Amino acid sequence: MEKSVIEKYEKQAAQAEEEINLLRSQLENIETCIKNNTVEHLDPEIAKLVTENTKLKHRLAILNRAIMEESSKTPNARGALPSILKTLNALFLGAIQAACPDIAEPPVDIALSSANSKFGDYQCNSAMSLANMYKQIGKKVPPREISAKIVENLPPHELIDHVEIAGPGFINIYLSKEYVRKAISSILLNGVQPPPLQRKLRVLVDFSSPNIAKEMHVGHLRSTIIGDSICRLLEFLGHDVIRINHLGDWGTQFGMLIAQLQEKYPDYLKQAPPISDLQAFYKESKKRFDEDEEFKKRAYASVVKLQSHDPDHIKAWELICDVSRRDFQKIYDRLDIKLIERGESFYQSRMENIVRELESAGLLQEDEGRKVMWGKLWYRFTSGTFICINIAGDTIKIPLTVVKSDGGFTYDTSDMAAIKQRIEEEKCDWVIYVTDSGQATHIYNIFDCAKKAGILDPSKIRTDFVGFGVVLGEDKKKFKTRSGDTVRLLDLLDEGLKRSEAKLKEKERDKVLTAEELRQAQESVAYGCIKYADLSHNRNHEYVFSFDRMLDDKGNTAVYLLYAYTRIRSIARNANFTPEKITELARDSAASLEHEKELKLAKALVRFSDVLLKITEDLCMHHLCEYVYHIATSFTEFYDSCYCIERDSSGDIVKVNVGRILLAEAAAMVMDGCFNILGLKPVSRM
Ligand code: ARG
Repeated sequence: MEKSVIEKYEKQAAQAEEEINLLRSQLENIETCIKNNTVEHLDPEIAKLVTENTKLKHRLAILNRAIMEESSKTPNARGALPSILKTLNALFLGAIQAACPDIAEPPVDIALSSANSKFGDYQCNSAMSLANMYKQIGKKVPPREISAKIVENLPPHELIDHVEIAGPGFINIYLSKEYVRKAISSILLNGVQPPPLQRKLRVLVDFSSPNIAKEMHVGHLRSTIIGDSICRLLEFLGHDVIRINHLGDWGTQFGMLIAQLQEKYPDYLKQAPPISDLQAFYKESKKRFDEDEEFKKRAYASVVKLQSHDPDHIKAWELICDVSRRDFQKIYDRLDIKLIERGESFYQSRMENIVRELESAGLLQEDEGRKVMWGKLWYRFTSGTFICINIAGDTIKIPLTVVKSDGGFTYDTSDMAAIKQRIEEEKCDWVIYVTDSGQATHIYNIFDCAKKAGILDPSKIRTDFVGFGVVLGEDKKKFKTRSGDTVRLLDLLDEGLKRSEAKLKEKERDKVLTAEELRQAQESVAYGCIKYADLSHNRNHEYVFSFDRMLDDKGNTAVYLLYAYTRIRSIARNANFTPEKITELARDSAASLEHEKELKLAKALVRFSDVLLKITEDLCMHHLCEYVYHIATSFTEFYDSCYCIERDSSGDIVKVNVGRILLAEAAAMVMDGCFNILGLKPVSRM
């Protein structure tokens, strides 16, 4: 490089350094003035900003305090269990802001301590990151010193018994026993209530969504189970939930189905055709379609007629949809799942509109006769070039096909119309799609394109893709029957019933239960275990479907939990306490929290709200399964070391420990709350 060029650069670098130094000293000056309360010495513009900032900080602190007071009254009016984590967060934020006034946005890191309560029930781990932030502004403050200051600024609160500083600067937080006792009595008196709701949201959950005339397979079963549970959670929290079944009820397959219907049942308009097995009917028509040119022509003509709303074709289409609908409904009824049907056909006119809208906004590109839309939003610099990625960070390789080369619409078109309808007509605040992970690219593409088209404003509307892994058989291969066919869902549910009956008989429950009780227990176990096995696995992973595993009465299974639950329920029954009696007792007596195992169980119960709020973040239901399992095991530990009812050698009751029975009842109530959200139906005798 030429000497003059080097000199030029050196001069620029020196200038830049000078500017940086100037800014640094200005910054120091500002900081000193803030500290010494001499803001008026600053440049008027800056002084104004600083005053503004101080006012805002002050208001924020007031708001935080108000939120905390509102949400943490124990128990509040409705008996809602406040979120412990939220309350601690607000409390510590205030303390940290007061302890570290020179850190603009201090991090608040509160976590549940590990099972070993040697380190308190919760811990605040903010001091370490705060020390790092101080380092960045050139100050050396040891984390323990920061922790001490935080503790100094922590106001007393009924939630906290005491705190202590440990190790490099962790703050261990011990819950107050009195708080826990009040919370348990609130559960007993008011039932298990959701945490206070900040804002009621209108949430649309798109789940289940099988395709007409095609099989509803285990993937749809997973979507049905996970989607239903997410709806149950959001409904419990008090949101306005719309459960949408986005049926695949519009597409070219209807051409051949209608052609076949007209040929096989020519009087279909007068008499409903006796099709019982639509899949066989689909196969038949597909075979004719592939083999017979004349038939193929008729099928194509049928599609055109259907799409132009010819009444006879619409009637035929309805007849076919009805057969599928009846089949799907059988599954939903058995699993007790409610859905509003709003299939792809619902969006016909809206598809025409969205195409026009995208076209006039210049968002569609010609691609070999098709009209496509690219959803690219972000670029990432990778190995020397920019590549286009979607929100998930995946490389986008394909655009949406909005119009096919023959002018027809696609799955992409209907989803663009659907997202617009959901946001603009349904006025949703939150839209959730539950489908297998294989559709991630498609759904993220829809989100991207909706943003690009100005339909979706992510600062106002939350969208989630809730994907899940494939279902495998015990051989770790794709889930199939022994003969290699795909498993029919009704057969699967029947198999579950058979197996759960065998399980109950193996335990000789048929000898103690009435026929009706046995039937209820059988259904509860069969459908409960299928749902629970699915929900208790991290949905992002593939999962192995195994009746043997799910019907095991040990470990984190529905069978274990349902049994544990009936055992807990039987304690009060054995003491001859009716539910009314329990409420009466709860009014005057408190749950017993003296024994270490009693306290451990009680502390688990008061975490209910926090577990639910965590799930609203990642929509992973397995957190709730882990929680309910934790309650069941904590209960067993409690029950093993604490007598609830004492009997003499002849089996007569000599002593009833009311405080422990109350604790056991509260545990049953929280478990019941979890089961409700998971879609499990516990029975009181089993
Ligand atoms: N019918 C689709 C399938 O079986 C699932 C639809 C999911 N929802 C949606 N809006 N794309 O794969």
